[in-house]
This record gives sequence, structure tokens and C-alpha cells, in this order.
Amino acid sequence: MKLYYITAEGHREMHIEVVADNAALGRVAADRILRSYDDGRLQVLGVATGGTPASTYRELAARSAGRLHDIRLAALDEYVGLPANHPGSYTTFVRQHIAEPLGIAPGQVGVPRAEAADLAAAAAGFEQQLRDNGGVDLQILGIGSNGHIGFNEPGSAADSRTRAVTLAERTRQDNARFFDSVDDVPREALTQGIGTILEARSILLLASGARKAQALARAVEQPPTADCPASWLQRHPDVLVVADEAAAAALSRRPLAARGA
Ligand code: F6R
Repeated sequence: MKLYYITAEGHREMHIEVVADNAALGRVAADRILRSYDDGRLQVLGVATGGTPASTYRELAARSAGRLHDIRLAALDEYVGLPANHPGSYTTFVRQHIAEPLGIAPGQVGVPRAEAADLAAAAAGFEQQLRDNGGVDLQILGIGSNGHIGFNEPGSAADSRTRAVTLAERTRQDNARFFDSVDDVPREALTQGIGTILEARSILLLASGARKAQALARAVEQPPTADCPASWLQRHPDVLVVADEAAAAALSRRPLAARGA
């Protein structure tokens, strides 16, 4: 089912596609990415890590038949305080779940260098690398249960850039499932800012599971606010949201907004 929302600021349409479950979400997202590539519009793919997009990356690996090997990958964020080769690092995630399965060489993969002693310099270097590569063509995003995108936690400004941030306790609890215990989840990260993310030409926001329902409804139905950083996406002209039924459950305008399949 496709929904069209006029955003709270009133001047943009936001497209939301509601699908049955995370597997269907992966198929729809992979379709979108492959279409973009086949149309010649995908040189740099911005990639989220975590549970939600894993099915998308599996679909891509199964269906791309090696043809994505020449694209570049730009990650959203990385934990501070983990060696890049740590099993829980996002550098490891991008290599194992995206770059290797798609046959993308390490030199074509950019992840914020959160191991650096000078995090401000690493952040500036990452922004420069994005510019040198011509910017992100298609940015895949997940959404935190607190409305974060990347690691832009509540309070993040619309014009924020890549920087070191302190993780919200809720984020550390949510991500404890990827570590032995919550105590092992880092407290800081280096993340693309909201302003950085909004410069991507096109955005694909993925939301899966009941834990995301409130944050997704807030992001698309309320006026943009730093309290729900994903709501800043209403200011972007080309966002497709793909949500499964559980994540879409709190969309109040849904029955009224549906305009055909
Ligand atoms: C990951 C990222 C985060 C996640 C979000 C949802 O690179 O930047 O914003 O997308 O925390 O994570 P999952 O999909 O694991 O629920």
C-alpha cells in the first residue's frame, strides 16, 4: 500500500510504502536501489547498518549479479572506542554485510574514522571525502526508537554536520543486542550530521518492527523538531519511506491518506 503525506510544513509530498514485513521491506528497498543503478543515477550509496537493512543487503547480494561492484559506499556512522576490526563496529558490518557480498573493493568504502585521536579532524576529513566523491546519490537510513537517524540523537539540529556525539541511553539499550552486554556498547560515536544527510540526492528511510511505530509517526506527522531528528527529513524533496505493518501501525492519517495501491 502506498501512502502520500503532505508534510507538516505543507510544501512537500512524502511517499510511504507499507509492506507486510521486514523481508518484503528488503525486496522493495533492493528494487529501488537496483533501479537507481540501472538508470545510471547511483555512483555513491549511503549505507545504514543495524538490523533493519540487513534483508535489503541480502536481497541486493542475491539479485545484483555483481553489477554493483563499481559503486562507492559511504557509511553513516561509527562507534568511538572500538577498533575498526571489532565484530560490533560498523566498519565490520559494512565490510561483511555489504562490501564483500557485493564485490566492492575496500578502497571504495568510506566509514567515519572514529579510531582517530582527533575526532574533529576525522569528521572534517569524512565530509571532504563525501564532497570529493560527488556527494551521496541514494542514502539508506534506519530510524532509532527515539527518532534518531545516523546517531543524531534527539536535540540534533537540522544543520548539524559530521561530528562526535554522545549516544542516548535508549540507543545503547537498543543496540545491546549486538554486544555481550549493554556495558560493552560504546558511549560515543562519530556520525554524519542531519545537514550532511539532507545533502544526499535521494533518501530511502526503512522502518521495521513495533519498536519504531511511535518514532515513525512522529517523524512524518508532526512538524519537524530536534526532539525527533528523523522529522527533519520532511525538508528533503525526495524521500521514500518503506515501513512494515508493525512500524506503520501508529500512522494516524493512514486510512485517509491512502490513494490507491
Ligand atoms: C546505523 C544507524 C542507526 C540505525 C538505527 C536503527 O548505521 O545509523 O540510525 O539505523 O539505530 O537500527 P536498527 O535497524 O538496528 O533498529
